[in-house]
Amino acid sequence: MEVVICKDYDEMSRRAAYLLTAEIVQNPKAVLGLATGDTPKKMYETLVDIYKKGDLDFSKVTTFNLDEYVGLSAEHEQSYAAYMKQMLMSHINIKPENVHILNGCSETPEEECALFEEKIVQAGGIDIQVLGLGHNGHIGFNEPDSQFELKTRIVQLDDRTIEANKRFFDKKSDVPTHALSMGIQTIMEAKKIILIASGASKAEAVSKLVNGNIDSMHPASILKVHKDVTVLIDKEAASKL
Ligand code: F6R
Repeated sequence: MEVVICKDYDEMSRRAAYLLTAEIVQNPKAVLGLATGDTPKKMYETLVDIYKKGDLDFSKVTTFNLDEYVGLSAEHEQSYAAYMKQMLMSHINIKPENVHILNGCSETPEEECALFEEKIVQAGGIDIQVLGLGHNGHIGFNEPDSQFELKTRIVQLDDRTIEANKRFFDKKSDVPTHALSMGIQTIMEAKKIILIASGASKAEAVSKLVNGNIDSMHPASILKVHKDVTVLIDKEAASKL
């Protein structure tokens, strides 16, 4: 695991965007695993800027998003489908059929998750997966005490996650209690992984990731055994290392 401490959020975002850019330039058919939340926003802005300068082509790129809230349709403004459209997809030349985001309103969520896994396999696996980091150490929505060998499935959100994400909703009770999420095994099968974390509130989780043991109560800790992980953090997030 390579840990890169960046000057600030902007530098962290630029470096993450450059790693994705390099991947797509080397392999125009790259399969990207993508995250939502606050942390990757500037990374997406930077990617869109690079695209607008004419230096990136997404026409053969395929994407798979980590997760989606159960019960929110793609039209709901807090759905991750809406986030991805707003932050990235509506600005680039990606083919809509190459964008894969779990349907949180599926009436058959198990089938939805199994089909998602099948599509990842059909695409040849994820070349590079972007991850954020939960305050409780979650990656995707694999909350503390998740088993490491699980694939995409329906999960119950931890109270700490609901608390952290209520800022996007009118009130805490509006935050969905469940999500569909790639499993840790799905994430670990990605050929490369970039984890990004910014701000002092992530310092404890970053310190447990970098200095702690592998522990299912801190799901991100399993990344230590992946052969190609880059952890990009800003100074605040690195403050407890
Ligand atoms: C988002 C996701 C989550 C977030 C994490 C950090 O798709 O899977 O694991 O990456 O909760 O969220 P932010 O970046 O909002 O702090």
